[in-house]
Amino acid sequence: MQENMAAAFRFHATECTRAEPEIHSRRYVLFYFSLHYSLRQTLNERLAQTALDDVEDGSAIRVLVVFHSWSGNTLSLAQAVAGGARCESGATVSIRRVAEIRNEHELLSDRRFGQQFAAACAYPVVTADEVLDADVVILGCPTRMGTLSAEMKRFIDGLGPIWSDGALANKVGAAFTTASTPHGGQEMTLLSLVVAMSHLGMIVACPGYTAGIFEIAGSPYGASSTSKVDGIRTRPRPADLAAAAALGERSACVGRWVRRGRQMERL
Ligand SMILES: Cc1cc2nc3c(=O)[nH]c(=O)nc-3n(C[C@H](O)[C@H](O)[C@H](O)COP(=O)(O)O)c2cc1C
Repeated sequence: MQENMAAAFRFHATECTRAEPEIHSRRYVLFYFSLHYSLRQTLNERLAQTALDDVEDGSAIRVLVVFHSWSGNTLSLAQAVAGGARCESGATVSIRRVAEIRNEHELLSDRRFGQQFAAACAYPVVTADEVLDADVVILGCPTRMGTLSAEMKRFIDGLGPIWSDGALANKVGAAFTTASTPHGGQEMTLLSLVVAMSHLGMIVACPGYTAGIFEIAGSPYGASSTSKVDGIRTRPRPADLAAAAALGERSACVGRWVRRGRQMERL
C-alpha cells in the first residue's frame, strides 16, 4: 500500500498543474496521507486476526474495481481505490474497464487524451463472470452531462441477466467519479451509481464521514475529484486520491464483514 500511495504521489507530483500551490504543499500531502495511514492502522489492528482466518480458510474477499475513463482522471481514482482495497489483509483486487461505445482506434488517436486512453486500455474489459466472482464491486466513471457516462450505464444495463437471477444481491458496492467543474454533477453521478447498485440488490458502502479524509475530499456518497480548477486542467489531488483509497479500504472491509457474517450464519 505504501508503494501504491507513493506511486500515486509521484504521479500527482509530475502530472498536476501549478494551479493549487497551497494544497499541493508537502505539509498538506503529509497531513492527508497520515490521516489515511491512521485509518488503515486502526482497521488493520481490528481485523488482523479475522483477516488471517479468512486467508487460511481460502475465503479471502475479492474486490473488483470497474472504471470508465478517457483522459485518465477516473483511472487515477480507480487505481487509488484499488490501492486502498489492497490494505484489507488477503483481499484480491482487480481493476477492469468497461467497453467503449466509440471506436477505440479513434479514441487512441485523439490528440487531447489518446495517450491517457492508451493507459486505460491496458486494463482488460470486465466480464460478467468477474462480476459474479467478486464480493465487492466498486464502480467509477466520468460525469457526462451531469450524470454517469453512457459506457458505464451500458455496462450496468448489461448486468440484467445476472441481476434477474439474484446473483448480484448482497455484494458490497461503492462509487467514484470525476467531473471538470466543482458543481458539474459529481453528486448526481455518485447517486446514480448508488441507485443502480440498489436496484441490483447490492449493499452500498457509502463513505459518509467515517474517516477524517472524507471531510476534506470526496463526498458522503463516494470518492470524487474535479479536473479543472480555476479553468486549468488538473489531475486528482493527493487528498482526492487518499479519499479514494479510504473508500476502497472501507468497501473491502465492509465486504469482509458481510462475507464473514454470511459464512457464520450458515454454520
Ligand atoms: C461528453 C462529455 C460530457 C461531460 N459532461 C460533464 C458534466 O456534465 N459536468 C462536468 O463537470 N464535466 C463534464 N465533462 C468533463 C468530464 O467529466 C471530466 O473531464 C472528467 O474528469 C473526465 O474523466 P476521465 O479523465 O476519466 O475521462 C464531460 C466530458 C465529456 C467528454
